[in-house]
Amino acid sequence: MQVAVLGGETDFDGWRKAARAFRLAGVTPERAAFRVGAGGDGLFDESLPAVTGEAPFSVPKAFVDLAQEVILHRAGDRFDLLYRLLWRLGTEPDLMKVSTDVDVAAALERAKNVSRASHKMKAFVRFRQVEDETGERCVAWFEPAHRVLERTAPFFMRRFTSMRWSILTPDGSASWEDGALAFGPPATRDMAPSEDEIEEFWKTYYASTFNPARLKTRTMQGEMPRRYWKNLPEAALIPELVARSSVRTEAMVAAPAPEPNARLARTLSRLNRDHAFEEGFVPSTLDELDQAVQACRRCPLWRDATQGVCGEGPRKAKLMIVGEQPGDQEDLAGHPFVGPAGRVLDAALEEARIDREDVFVTNAVKHFKHEPRGKRRLHKTPNTAEVSACRWWLNAERRLVRPRVIVTLGATAALGVLGRKVAVTKERGRGIDLGDGAKALLTVHPSYLLRIPDAAARAGERDRFVADLTQARALL
Ligand code: URA
Repeated sequence: MQVAVLGGETDFDGWRKAARAFRLAGVTPERAAFRVGAGGDGLFDESLPAVTGEAPFSVPKAFVDLAQEVILHRAGDRFDLLYRLLWRLGTEPDLMKVSTDVDVAAALERAKNVSRASHKMKAFVRFRQVEDETGERCVAWFEPAHRVLERTAPFFMRRFTSMRWSILTPDGSASWEDGALAFGPPATRDMAPSEDEIEEFWKTYYASTFNPARLKTRTMQGEMPRRYWKNLPEAALIPELVARSSVRTEAMVAAPAPEPNARLARTLSRLNRDHAFEEGFVPSTLDELDQAVQACRRCPLWRDATQGVCGEGPRKAKLMIVGEQPGDQEDLAGHPFVGPAGRVLDAALEEARIDREDVFVTNAVKHFKHEPRGKRRLHKTPNTAEVSACRWWLNAERRLVRPRVIVTLGATAALGVLGRKVAVTKERGRGIDLGDGAKALLTVHPSYLLRIPDAAARAGERDRFVADLTQARALL
């Protein structure tokens, strides 16, 4: 057995170096082993022939991308699985396209778990405020399902640029200070503060936005798995809120639309006063834009929405994807495309070999337009006036991000981006010059795909959707 020692549980470079040397030396997967150890940086066994010069083999980018995700999984055999794939790629160059292959399927499943863990981290990190010698800092304790801290920290950096924050986890810690993101050693729960004013705020906020009429305990536990509850201040309220839900449902039917809670109201009025409606106010960062959207009164849609949902993604993304408006789940989570349409979009992006992390994903309209129907909130298409009112925010996002290509999903998105009504089917698939150096590419909305009843027709339309996204990648 040949053993390689890696520098850490997520030491991708170490694994890559060792796996390359193993393969060049003809070490079969059965004879190759990897372990994590102090000072590990590559090969342990001295008897391996040294690698000289350029490596005489290459692997598809899809494999490298997948491997970088899989290595973050907690499964102990992930290094071996990846080496088996690497070895097999030597004689099966198209292996990564065979999603039914046992090893490929296992790796894809793990990558999916990792992506889900990262998504849950974005949704469930809760900061608590502490005071240290240099001022206020927000600290969160979080236990991710997989080792996604470093992968996910840039999201918090973009989201909370103006805050000083630390996220402590059992795998390591991340801190954002003076414009620099730094990673440190593992932490324990007792290193993070447990209660503060923000905690009360979350509880009040959650209780006021919790809609008993939409309570589906199973779905809720799927989206907010129990493993995360212990670190969520608002989770302490769930049993009681669930127990009281039928009583509250009846009361809600009769009650007028709720006002935002006092603290939120104060934030909103401060934002109003500070800048949101000042003549000539132009947000200079995505954070500022996000805050100002929470105070937007350009159209009435804010009244029934939980919050405004702004775009997310890299500040300098080359590709922007514009949807219609947040749906029910996006409205609650505060993030775009995290519900069923988001899952269709994610899968199509993956097939088109576009990393969602590289894309700025947003909507033409920032508040969820809906109407109550029994226990549900039914999506309503925003009208032209609402899309025009919100176009101001979309244009501000475009100015800040400056994408080269904008993919519009459905007619509302096309209206928001082009400023005119278009027949998507007629103008689909060709780059439309937007006059600012960017090109728009029109395609259908993923929820349209979800509504096609016939399986064959749905598969055909989905292929066209993936082809449109692939074309967008080519345009970049
Ligand atoms: N549909 C959209 O258009 N946008 C979202 O964010 C979610 C669903």
